[in-house]
Amino acid sequence: MNKSQIYQGLMAAALTTAALAFAAPAYAAVDAAAAEALARQNNCFKCHGLTKKKDGPSFQESAAKFKGKPDAEARIVHHLTSGEKAKFPDDHEEDHKIIKAKDEAEIKNLANWILSQ
Ligand code: HEC
Repeated sequence: MNKSQIYQGLMAAALTTAALAFAAPAYAAVDAAAAEALARQNNCFKCHGLTKKKDGPSFQESAAKFKGKPDAEARIVHHLTSGEKAKFPDDHEEDHKIIKAKDEAEIKNLANWILSQ
């Protein structure tokens, strides 16, 4: 191998590495099946439809509300873990359901799934 062949080999390796780095998503992809299963286990659909308003807003409505907000994920995670007051259509307020999940990653996945509706 002469010098120029070595150089070409190094360039090819560098380009492959760069291509792989760009191929990896900037954020973890939403696992929709896991999100729906978690929502079902927690009875979220009793009060929220995907597109239909029930006692709570539809997930589509919430996605629209949070669209473009940089702290959207954090706000939904907070909403699901803090038991903050939720206002019902008849104007009474009660603590929002606190989600049961195995870890925060699972809750973040659900939050991002809601945001993707
Ligand atoms: C007993 C009914 C009920 C259950 C069960 C319930 N929610 Fe809600 N949720 C509400 C109501 C009512 C609101 C509206 C709160 C408000 O606007 O003050 C709400 C609001 C929300 C919002 C919007 C928050 C915001 O800041 O705009 C999201 C997202 C949400 N719920 C997700 C969930 C998820 C996920 C679950 C399951 C873990 C769940 N909810 C379970 C009644 C419920």
